[in-house]
Amino acid sequence: MIAPNILSADLARLAEEADAVWDRGGEGADWLHIDVIDGHFVPNLTIGLPVVAALRSATDIPLDCHLMIEDPDRWALGYAEVGARNVTVHIEAVRSPVALAGDLRSAGALAGLAIKPRTPLEPYLTLLGHFDTLLIMSVEPGFNGQAFIPEVLSKVRTARRLIDTENLRLLIEIDGGINVETIRAAAQAGANCFVAGSAVYGTEDPACAVHQLRQHATRALASS
Ligand code: DX5
Ligand code: ZN
Repeated sequence: MIAPNILSADLARLAEEADAVWDRGGEGADWLHIDVIDGHFVPNLTIGLPVVAALRSATDIPLDCHLMIEDPDRWALGYAEVGARNVTVHIEAVRSPVALAGDLRSAGALAGLAIKPRTPLEPYLTLLGHFDTLLIMSVEPGFNGQAFIPEVLSKVRTARRLIDTENLRLLIEIDGGINVETIRAAAQAGANCFVAGSAVYGTEDPACAVHQLRQHATRALASS
């Protein structure tokens, strides 16, 4: 799956930019990744619930909300209620992950758990069965256009091993610095959902960039 990050797009034309990668005869993006950043959890401020709700009513592409916010236990459910397909909260910020995952699912969304590059995965492996998506950050959260941190691939491999041995139904999403080079290593490590901001919206043809990213991931898997 390819999830372009809308925050690398022209923020004055969000709906058009979403449509630029959607429904290209089945060749388009699978999700639209939206970084909701509150200026407290990380030092940046982006968009929040009103803009996500407006985007939901203006486009058909499934919305993948990555909440880099404090107090997700209080705010995350609202994103599910306005129709987000996936709502991801940070393990570093959430107080009751299992309860919140259940609430998100009851509201009709997939429940995602995100982990920053320097946060170890081992202490949280028992939580993964309660979630639908594990978002492994390959850059420090907050800004797009940063360099990929290859050390996080060991966490991808650990998660992939656990999912395969325990037969879990969990997407491994990787987020940050993904391009046609880094997507190959990420796919071979076991990721199956790829967020890309600069590598999609930093190009002349975002739809073509999505297609190329998918091709590189598929080829990497075929050759591994
Ligand atoms: C970082 C965000 C990522 C990042 C991706 O805080 O969660 O989604 O913006 O942007 P690129 O693909 O440009 O690294
Ligand atoms: Zn993100």
